Formats: sequence, structure tokens, C-alpha cells
Amino acid sequence: MSQDFEIFCVTVPGMEDTLCAEMQSKGFKAPVISPGGVVFQGGWPDVWQANLTLRGATRILARIGAFRAFHLAQLDKRARKFPWGETLKPGIPVKVEVTSKASKIYHAKAAAQRIETALKDSHGIPIDPEAALTLKLRIEDNLCTFSIDTSGAPLHIRGHKEALNKAPMRETLAALFLHQCDYNGGEPVLDPMCGSGTFVIEAAEIAAGLHPGRSRDFAFKHLASFDPDTWADLKSQTPHTPTPTFYGSDRDAGAIRMSAQNAQRAGVAELCHFQTHAISDLKRPEGPAGLVIVNPPYGGRIGNKKPLYAVYGALGKTLKDRFQGWRVGLITSEPALAKATALPFQPTTGSVSHGGIRISLYKTAPL
Ligand SMILES: C[S@@+](CC[C@H](N)C(=O)[O-])C[C@H]1O[C@@H](n2cnc3c(N)ncnc32)[C@H](O)[C@@H]1O
Repeated sequence: MSQDFEIFCVTVPGMEDTLCAEMQSKGFKAPVISPGGVVFQGGWPDVWQANLTLRGATRILARIGAFRAFHLAQLDKRARKFPWGETLKPGIPVKVEVTSKASKIYHAKAAAQRIETALKDSHGIPIDPEAALTLKLRIEDNLCTFSIDTSGAPLHIRGHKEALNKAPMRETLAALFLHQCDYNGGEPVLDPMCGSGTFVIEAAEIAAGLHPGRSRDFAFKHLASFDPDTWADLKSQTPHTPTPTFYGSDRDAGAIRMSAQNAQRAGVAELCHFQTHAISDLKRPEGPAGLVIVNPPYGGRIGNKKPLYAVYGALGKTLKDRFQGWRVGLITSEPALAKATALPFQPTTGSVSHGGIRISLYKTAPL
């Protein structure tokens, strides 16, 4: 495939416009919002670039071709003729996933079996349910569209976080919320309930100009199109030394140890200050105002809701008393808990699912 093709950047449903804004700011060509993600036209280096640089994408799919098929025998015949060798390499295993909607071929398992046989018999491509590469077939209105998942493990796995606290925010979602708070790397960020440090570390990486995918592996390296030299060029970057500082605190000493280790692995430990203390002992850092971003416990997943009203109330009071000039972004599942902070939040713009719970961002102007 030497020509441009469709590249689909999957994101958290409800965050498509935020991912699109990130892509525009990073120079991706003409990104278009689509349900569940953002589409643009490009070639393989664009696929690598998207995997390497996008903070808000969950995975990157390369749409490698499509044909119509109205019955299984037709699918079988056309799958055997499909130019798999342009993308997949003989001897490198793949797994096949099929979904079917409003089509004559409705039996996904039978369709998968036809594709697997075509790959094995006609092209020498082994099938393995544990393969690093996934070929996705979507059959809709009798149109069979083939995509390769070029990411492999989901992109929120940046490759730095070994230590996980309870209820961690996914890095992709954290980055999207930071973007929604207009954070662009030029101001300090503070999370007073930082858990494993996700917001603090994401913010520090953005300020340092580090690529989110710099340390992890990607499925696209197993494809016929992979060019290690171009990839090495894309990856090489000169991080700039940012001036702002990034602050994380939590009342749980174990969480703070994790945050410090995670920041160390991410290479941003020198930009981050982590401290163990409760909200009531939170002090305003010296220097310019910035962004406080926090996702306090919600109660739905960890613990009971009632005592949380007092925690949210204490958080709101501390921020109002000590953080004049700072903006606040608070993420929670409960409008009543957000209200308990008594902070002057702007109207929210919808909710997204995080581990099965609907959460929303509540933002203030500078306090
Ligand atoms: C939902 S978790 C935050 C997860 C974090 N954003 C992450 O990505 O790992 C909420 C955190 O609030 C902390 N916490 C709860 N009450 C607190 C209080 N009064 N003062 C400081 N931290 C508190 C908990 O220890 C927990 O780590």
C-alpha cells in the first residue's frame, strides 16, 4: 500500500472532539470526527506518528481495504485474492476479529474462519489467538472492511507505570481532560489527590515535549511496511527543559511512593514534587498560578458516598482560601459531590465512561 489510506484513531466515546483538537494542534492532516474516534488520510509514517505522539488516542487502526461479499463463499474467494502481502508478512502470526451488522453474512465466527483459512493457505500467515497483530473485519451493509490494529496494547499503556494505585485514571483520559482544561505545558499543575500520579506525570511530559509512546512497543513493527530507519527518525527528539513544576500529594504514603517511582521511570522525576499529606495540609506552591486537576474518590467504586461530601467540601474550601488565580478541573461521577465543593464551576459538557462509571469534568475560571 503505497497510497494514502484511512487511519482511524480510536478514543473514549464522548472525547472525539478533544482528540481532534489534539490532532490539529500536532499537525495531522484534515482530521474528521467520527463516532468513537477521528479519521484522517495518510501513509504508514503517519500511522507511526499517530501511535508515537497522540496522547488522547486509545489505538490506531489502519484501514487496509474493503470489498463487498453477500455470502461466505464469496468472502472466501475474495479474501484469497486480497493483497495481504502488502501489509502482513508470511510467518508472522495474526489474530482475526470479526463483527457483522445489517449484512447477509451474519455469522461472525464463520466469517473469521474463512479469513483465517485464506491467510494460512494462500499467504502463509499463521493464525494465533495470542498474536501481537490483530486483523479486524467489520461487515456492515455487506461491505467487508479490513483494518489492522497498529498499536497492540492500548495506548494508555505508556510503558512507565508499573505501580498502580486503586482506581487510577487512564493516561489517555488524563491527557484529554488536561487538554479540556486548556493545559498546554506552560504552567504548573497540581493534583492534591494524585494516587499513582497520572495527571502530574502526563502534565510534566507534555511540558517537557516528550512523546507519550517513546518507551513502549507497537504492533506495527511486525508489518511488511515497517521501516526502522524512518521510525528511528520519528522517535528522535530533543526534549526541552520546561520551567513549570508539577505537584502531587495524597494522604496515602503508598500512593506517593508509586507516583515517585512512576515519574522516575517516565524521566520526569526532576520536574515533579510529591508529598504525603491530606487535603487540609495542602499549601499553595510558590510562583505563578496554574491548574489544579483532581479526581477525588467517587464512592461508586471505592467506598461509600456519605463521608465524601465532607472530603469534597474540605477540598473546595482549601482551594478557595489558598489558590486564588489558579483554575480548577475536577473529575467526578456525582454532580452532588462536585456541588459540595462550593467552587464556581462552569456548566459541564457531558460525561464519559471510565471503568463502567460515567464521569464528568467540572472546570472553573481562575479563582
Ligand atoms: C480516585 S483516586 C485518584 C487516582 C489518581 N488520579 C490516579 O490516576 O492514580 C483518589 C485519591 O484520593 C486520595 N484521597 C482521599 N481522601 C483524601 C484526602 N482527604 N486528602 C488527600 N488525599 C485523599 C486517595 O488516597 C486516592 O489516592
